Amino acid sequence: MNVGIIGSGGREHALCISLKKSQKIKNIYCFPGNAGTSFVAKNIKVDLTNFEELKKLIQKLGIDIIVVGPEKPLVDGIVDFLENNKIKVFGPNKIASQLEGSKIFTKNLCKKYKIPTANFGVFNNIDESFSFLKKCKFPIVVKADGLASGKGVYICENLESSKDAVTEIFDGKFGKAHEILIEEFLEGEEMSFFIISDGISYKKFGTAQDHKRVLEGDKGKNTGGMGAYSPSRLENETLDKKILEKIIKPTLKGLKNLKTEFVGFLYAGLIIVKGEPFLIEYNVRMGDPECQTILPRLKTDFFDIIDATINKKLGSINLEWFEEKSICIVLCSKGYPDKFQNNVEIKKLEKIKPKDNNYIFHAGTKLINSKIYSNGGRVLNFVIKSKNLQQSRDELISSINDLNWENGYFRKDIGFKIFE
Ligand code: AMP
Ligand code: GLY
Repeated sequence: MNVGIIGSGGREHALCISLKKSQKIKNIYCFPGNAGTSFVAKNIKVDLTNFEELKKLIQKLGIDIIVVGPEKPLVDGIVDFLENNKIKVFGPNKIASQLEGSKIFTKNLCKKYKIPTANFGVFNNIDESFSFLKKCKFPIVVKADGLASGKGVYICENLESSKDAVTEIFDGKFGKAHEILIEEFLEGEEMSFFIISDGISYKKFGTAQDHKRVLEGDKGKNTGGMGAYSPSRLENETLDKKILEKIIKPTLKGLKNLKTEFVGFLYAGLIIVKGEPFLIEYNVRMGDPECQTILPRLKTDFFDIIDATINKKLGSINLEWFEEKSICIVLCSKGYPDKFQNNVEIKKLEKIKPKDNNYIFHAGTKLINSKIYSNGGRVLNFVIKSKNLQQSRDELISSINDLNWENGYFRKDIGFKIFE
């Protein structure tokens, strides 16, 4: 089989490595991939907003199945487009992708199906937002409706900052805004919970704990994720049951009632308050860096899972996982998530030879004349699968120190809540 992966991050490199392990795979193509994927797959330059061009390339290369990594092409309807052109694709369609593409769509679904989530209001102008905010207790959360690469969420400590947030959103910081969301701040611990679904049945696909803030101790600005470990320390059977019954099942039912279905990975971003799960957001894809911690723990042939999902036979697959846990530290460009420098050479990378169960997944990297350069905020993901996460974290830190990349920054405290 020839498989194509859409995307260029650490998640896509991890997808690539897991697929490569399958005996059934002949070639992997990454659209456009990164330096890491170029060592195991063929990178194809393409403008991901040009679906027509992408289709022609897929047909020319004889690709049997496409796996979509990031949210933007999903929300833009890439799955509908490729399926209409008789190309098999793993990922949700445009309607189902609204779960991530519109926070208000998800909130309305929560309201209709009584899915536990933070109390909220939707406002379509500045004046009404301000008069509501004057009556609120703080902190309060102000959110832009559409995709904003994790930046459209403001946790506001007082009236003044919440007004600034509302103004920025309506001023178009994240594109034209017709509506905004103001919601109650929930105090609890976050958890990323994943399922895979073929539209008929679904299976749990692991949990992880992301670390979204840029600074140690979960301080500073929100990022795409500075590191993760899997499974989440909060995972247990009772909580799983509550998440599936109160959140996942009603969501899938809600989509069915809209005459659609969910195919692909569904990622529930949760806050657990006193043992009760609340939905904070949905993502219609694997998390990044969560994917880099979950896939190394998967025992079952990953291609078989993707193939069964596309062919609506997920029910016949038994998902098996390794006993070990895993931990990932993300090495970023200094300055991320604000301004940072690109095109900085990463010199000693080839000298670091990962042992068994150690992985270096590339994210923002590119290869020029056999040299590796940075090409984004999040650059490399160092991962270990083991029985002892604290020891593994020390080993990851030591590998990153060996690399000694002058432009790098990373958090040394990933998993701190388990080790405290
Ligand atoms: P989101 O993009 O909706 O996941 O929000 C980004 C981050 O903001 C989340 O990972 C949480 O840390 C935080 N957050 C979002 N909504 C809430 C809320 N209602 N209460 C507390 N924290 C929140
Ligand atoms: N790690 C958070 C995300 O993938 O959205």
